Amino acid sequence: MNDTNAGTGGSRRDIRPARGKLGVLLVGLGAVSTTFIAGVESVRRGRSRPIGSLTQLNTIRLGKRTEERAPLIKDFVPLADLEDLVFGAWDPIPDDAYASAKLAGVLSHEDLEAVGDFLGTIRPMPAVFDKSYVKRLDGSNVKKGADKMELAEQLRADIRDFKAEHGCDRLVVVWAASTEIYLRPHDVHATLETFEEGLRAGHEAIAPSMVYAYAALQEGVPFANGAPNLTVDVPALTDLARARGLPVAGKDFKTGQTLMKTIIAPGLKARMLGLRGWFSTNILGNRDGAVLDDPQSFKTKEESKLGVLDYILQPDMYPDLYGDFYHKVRINYYPPRGDDKEGWDNIDIVGWMGYPMQIKIDFLCKDSILAAPIVLDLALFLDLAARAGLSGIQEWLSFYFKSPQVAEGLYPEHDLFIQHWKLKNTLRWLMGEEQITHLGMEYYGEQE
Ligand SMILES: NC(=O)c1ccc[n+]([C@@H]2O[C@H](COP(=O)([O-])OP(=O)(O)OC[C@H]3O[C@@H](n4cnc5c(N)ncnc54)[C@H](O)[C@@H]3O)[C@@H](O)[C@H]2O)c1
Repeated sequence: MNDTNAGTGGSRRDIRPARGKLGVLLVGLGAVSTTFIAGVESVRRGRSRPIGSLTQLNTIRLGKRTEERAPLIKDFVPLADLEDLVFGAWDPIPDDAYASAKLAGVLSHEDLEAVGDFLGTIRPMPAVFDKSYVKRLDGSNVKKGADKMELAEQLRADIRDFKAEHGCDRLVVVWAASTEIYLRPHDVHATLETFEEGLRAGHEAIAPSMVYAYAALQEGVPFANGAPNLTVDVPALTDLARARGLPVAGKDFKTGQTLMKTIIAPGLKARMLGLRGWFSTNILGNRDGAVLDDPQSFKTKEESKLGVLDYILQPDMYPDLYGDFYHKVRINYYPPRGDDKEGWDNIDIVGWMGYPMQIKIDFLCKDSILAAPIVLDLALFLDLAARAGLSGIQEWLSFYFKSPQVAEGLYPEHDLFIQHWKLKNTLRWLMGEEQITHLGMEYYGEQE
């Protein structure tokens, strides 16, 4: 046997080349979006390295280990070049990207000023915003319309105008706006017909984020959702994406504490170590923290964060080890910390003969520094997916999300390493290369 799976190396998919400009339209021009834009511009000016981005830095092994073929991902699949990215945004707060980045306080004065001229040119278009979905926010830069369909039409016009004005060949839209209140799936989300009726009737189960997703898809633009809101995770919109031949992905960027959880939990399970409890608490003081201080927005985030351990540890299959663990997630708004979040985890584990042990994690992270490369990778990979003719939910992008969207009837895969493997095997599959199985018996003289 081979440590690649020769049977699955197929023909290369037809992928349109990444020619011309790619417009990245960001919903929300806050800490994450401005850190992302500033970083890309800083890399383009040769001041920074794109650390944390797979599309820019990661290699991909091809064929057998002895072949020593490991190109950079960006040299293997045809991705848009950073030089070809142009940025636009919507936000109810009228600050340009420079003023917003300054307020967010993520970047040092030096880093901010080095790209300040560029950031100052990015001014947000008026948003589709309704305070009843994000209670702790006010803004004046807001669209007015008779109903939600009219607002969607205005967004569609923005998308067309942006594309024409900047001479873009292609666009992607990424939701990096505030977390909306918790909404359950509703009948109005069931089909495109019910959804469009709901838009015209101003149905309350249709949140602003859904209006953006609808507008993007109707304009032929892929959509990614970086927050835990339902947004594009409803049948009406995933069906629309498939019908229009457009890729979508979500939900909720996997950054600080949940990133750690999906790194450590698979390790505990791999070693068949038990779990009694996992207590996670955070303090953060940015605008995101202020929004999440509202119980209804926190509920959306909590749901997204809590699912992870159950899916990784599979309590039904391992009731002795994981049948009865206590899992708690808290987020506390604490203004002095700004974007410098601190996340503590206390993990009570169980070893041989039931002996208890503890793991403590204190992660002093920078939320937007972790999220920015995810925005970049999602924009580039969604654009690749669109050019490769992939449509609907892109489960291979689960790697980037706390609460990955999956096809109806499937449970989400949360294990970071499986997600990483799946992502790379998808790239190999796109390019007609063999899948890597890591079997490797041929190196020890076994028959292929
Ligand atoms: N930073 C991370 O590590 C991380 C991780 C996962 C998810 N997220 C999510 O990403 C989102 C952005 O985070 P952030 O730190 O940049 O927050 P932020 O508060 O700095 O920025 C969000 C921006 O969205 C704007 N906004 C709100 N509603 C809008 C609407 N309807 N249309 C357009 N703009 C709107 C707000 O005015 C604000 O400027 C949040 O939902 C957050 O939960 C962030």
